[in-house]
Amino acid sequence: MKKMLLVLILMAVAVVIASAVVAGCGDSTTSSTNANADVQKQLDDIKGALPKFAIPMREVGDRFADMNAAAQGGNWALTAYMSKYLNNAMNPTKVTKPEEYKNWAAFYTGPFDPVNKAIAAKDLAAFNTAYTNSISSCNACHEASGYKFVKIVKEDTASD
Ligand code: HEC
Repeated sequence: MKKMLLVLILMAVAVVIASAVVAGCGDSTTSSTNANADVQKQLDDIKGALPKFAIPMREVGDRFADMNAAAQGGNWALTAYMSKYLNNAMNPTKVTKPEEYKNWAAFYTGPFDPVNKAIAAKDLAAFNTAYTNSISSCNACHEASGYKFVKIVKEDTASD
């Protein structure tokens, strides 16, 4: 009889332990799902707060004008700096507009490359030609993107 009681008690303990383990697993799965959803929401919120094209393009426009003024003044270090940050200004769009960013990268390494080459060579005549030529590529992308009315013109003075 005593042995029977002992077996029953052991079985009861086993059931309690097993159900505790199962409940524990259940809880941790639910809480990790909640944590994942929470992290995803935070990522979506951060992404939503990053700029798309309009804000970086304002900076591109400013640095584009500043770059020309710097080159005309013979300040090639500033011209190179403006070109570098004109490109870097578009970095948020790698996350917010990855497909359109590819077109920007193709522009900067393609039609805009002669501008960078002229800066590296400190060649003002080559810079003037390349810079003026690049404007039509700026505007071609605006037109292709549905912003035909955003027309870049050559400015004589720095923007900032
Ligand atoms: C890959 C395509 C693309 C290229 C290349 C491009 N742009 Fe843009 N740009 C856009 C788009 C798209 C907009 C409209 C942004 C919006 O409203 O979402 C824009 C808008 C602008 C604006 C108006 C921003 C504002 O809201 O006030 C300026 C200024 C500008 N671009 C300058 C330039 C200059 C300068 C160049 C060349 C050095 C250039 N862009 C090249 C796509 C491009």
